[in-house]
Amino acid sequence: MSDLETGALPLRSVDPDDAGAVAAWRRVPRVAFLEPAPAPAEEERWVREAAERVAGQRLSGVVDAGRWVATYRSFDTELTVPGSGPVPVNAVSSVAVLPTHRRRGLLRRMIGADLQRAREQGHALAALIAAEAPIYGRFGFGAASGAVSLSVDAQGCRFRADAPRGSGRLELVQASAAWPELAAVHDASRRARPGGLAREETWWRQWTRPGGLRALGPSAHVVLHRDAAGVADGYAAYEVAEDWAGRVSRCSARVLDLHAASPGAYRDLWEFVLSLDWVRTVTTKDRPVDELLPLLLQDPRAVQRGAVDDFLWVRPLDAAGALATRRYLGCGTLVLRVVDPGGPAGATVLLHVDAERCGEDGWTCAEVTATSREPDVVLGAAELGALLLGGTSAVALASAGRLAGPAAAVWRLQSLLATPQEPWCPTWF
Ligand SMILES: CC(C)(COP(=O)(O)OP(=O)(O)OC[C@H]1O[C@@H](n2cnc3c(N)ncnc32)[C@H](O)[C@@H]1OP(=O)(O)O)[C@@H](O)C(=O)NCCC(=O)NCCS
Repeated sequence: MSDLETGALPLRSVDPDDAGAVAAWRRVPRVAFLEPAPAPAEEERWVREAAERVAGQRLSGVVDAGRWVATYRSFDTELTVPGSGPVPVNAVSSVAVLPTHRRRGLLRRMIGADLQRAREQGHALAALIAAEAPIYGRFGFGAASGAVSLSVDAQGCRFRADAPRGSGRLELVQASAAWPELAAVHDASRRARPGGLAREETWWRQWTRPGGLRALGPSAHVVLHRDAAGVADGYAAYEVAEDWAGRVSRCSARVLDLHAASPGAYRDLWEFVLSLDWVRTVTTKDRPVDELLPLLLQDPRAVQRGAVDDFLWVRPLDAAGALATRRYLGCGTLVLRVVDPGGPAGATVLLHVDAERCGEDGWTCAEVTATSREPDVVLGAAELGALLLGGTSAVALASAGRLAGPAAAVWRLQSLLATPQEPWCPTWF
């Protein structure tokens, strides 16, 4: 039996500051994610940008016969949870195993070790974006936020008279120079809605660097919205594609990223993109499930919704800690039993949300304590992960046989977890 089959190949870590070591390690995700190899002229830049992207993060994997065969990356960042704003989260990425080494338990070992470490270091939550939906439920992750694709008929779009307008102005900017203003807008936006993830400076530099491998393309533009005082309060990044049928335009635009701090700035940005000369169709993806745009239009059907996909998957690492990170809008008491075989989150906890502790903003901190009482609701770690941001219905999970309890307890849980806005994360990592 080989070392691999006996599980004897040790997990190794990589120094994220050693560009050569990172480049050798990074070849595994490149192969596993079906990415083309960089052209020889691009190789140096590929190595530099790969190393820049993972600076300061935890890189690990498995080496067989002197070559990396499996990789795993995690880093500390912030996730916005309902009522509480941003809280720490262990973000997981670069999960890849070479096709020659798949299905021999390498992912299981890598993720097991990292989640254990994260728990020991005090994290209550982990999060990732799943390449394929069947992979991560067994590791206690549940799909916690959704994202929708939209296609908008630009010519059929008229805004309602009562749709709010911004008080400021729009300005086309160079993303490479204006990125600090874009970052400030995004930062306010991601803090305001459950599911938002922090974007580090490196993210912005790579996204706005002309010609960068992860950058906005050559057909991209960025329009910034400034409020009446001149402060940036929204932006849209979009790219355009020219297409003519004879002399008839079929040109389109694709919104790559759009954030706004007020409904007025939001409306102005969408109206700008939808009224670009020649542009007949505007598409976008990774937008919130409850995107506001249709409600602002005289004909909401001008916005066609495409696929609604899962985006952020969340895992509780500590049941009580995870439930205590967020706040709640209702009040009530429930005993929850979280089942997590082989994982760190198994526990029976009393969730007590007392109306007397309600803050002025309407949100209430919960008391979450271990208990020996019989549970009202029994659920898996993945199901708790799916529920935490408010984007999944406890009632639906119960109907699907993934959560057990009397109907009244399930409804109480659902009313406690409900949030005014759908969770949204548009940040790939
Ligand atoms: C997904 C991937 C990382 C799995 O690695 P692996 O080492 O083969 O996984 P393991 O052998 O540890 O499998 C653990 C369990 O997950 C299951 N599993 C792994 N990948 C799966 C997949 N894509 N779909 C369904 N089940 C999967 C295995 O069957 C095994 O199930 P079991 O617990 O019932 O035995 C690897 O196949 C890969 O790199 N795929 C391409 C890139 C990718 O999708 N990466 C994930 C990015 S989020």
